[in-house]
Amino acid sequence: METTLIILKPDAVQRGLMGRIISRFEDKGLQVVGAKMMTISQELAATHYEAHKERPFYAGLVGFMTSSPVLVLAIRGVGAIGISRSMMGATFGSKADAGTIRGDFGVSNSFNLIHGSDSPEAAERELGLFFGAGEVQNWDRKIEGWVYDLSGGKPE
Ligand code: RTP
Ligand code: MG
Repeated sequence: METTLIILKPDAVQRGLMGRIISRFEDKGLQVVGAKMMTISQELAATHYEAHKERPFYAGLVGFMTSSPVLVLAIRGVGAIGISRSMMGATFGSKADAGTIRGDFGVSNSFNLIHGSDSPEAAERELGLFFGAGEVQNWDRKIEGWVYDLSGGKPE
C-alpha cells in the first residue's frame, strides 16, 4: 500500500470542485485517509516547492498556492502515487488529456487544480510537511475485500 499527498489547489476550492475531485479518487477505489483544509503559509509553500526555487514560475506558484485555502488529502491504495498522477493528467490544463482531472476541469496552465506527490520519497516528505502525528487515519475499510481481491493474502 502506498499513501500519497494530494492538494486540491486554491482554484479547485474556489470553483467548488472539491467534491467532484474527491469522488474521482473514491470511485477509483482509493481510500481517503487524511483530509484537512488550510491556508498554506509562505514558508510551507517555499519548502514544498523548494525544488522549483530557481524556476521563472516559482514566485507566481508560491503566490497562487498561498492565495486562498486548499484541501490537503492523504490518499491510499496499491500504487496510489502513480495512479493518482495519471488521474491528474499532464501539468498544464491546456495539454492534459480528456478523462483526467486537469483535462476535464481546467484550461489554465498556471491554475491546474491539483498537486500529487510524484515518487514514494516525495510522498513521504510531503505527507510529513502537511500532516502532523495522528492526522492520517489508518481506518479499516469494510469493503476492502470488494475493492481488491484479497484471497491470495495481499491486495490484487
Ligand atoms: P504539482 O507538483 O503541482 O503536482 O505539478 P506537476 O508535478 O505536474 O508539475 P511540476 O513540474 O512539479 O510543477 C509544479 C507546479 O508549478 C507550476 N508550473 N508552472 N509555467 C510553467 O512552466 C510551470 N511549470 C510548472 C504548475 O502549477 C505545477 O503544478
Ligand atoms: Mg510536481
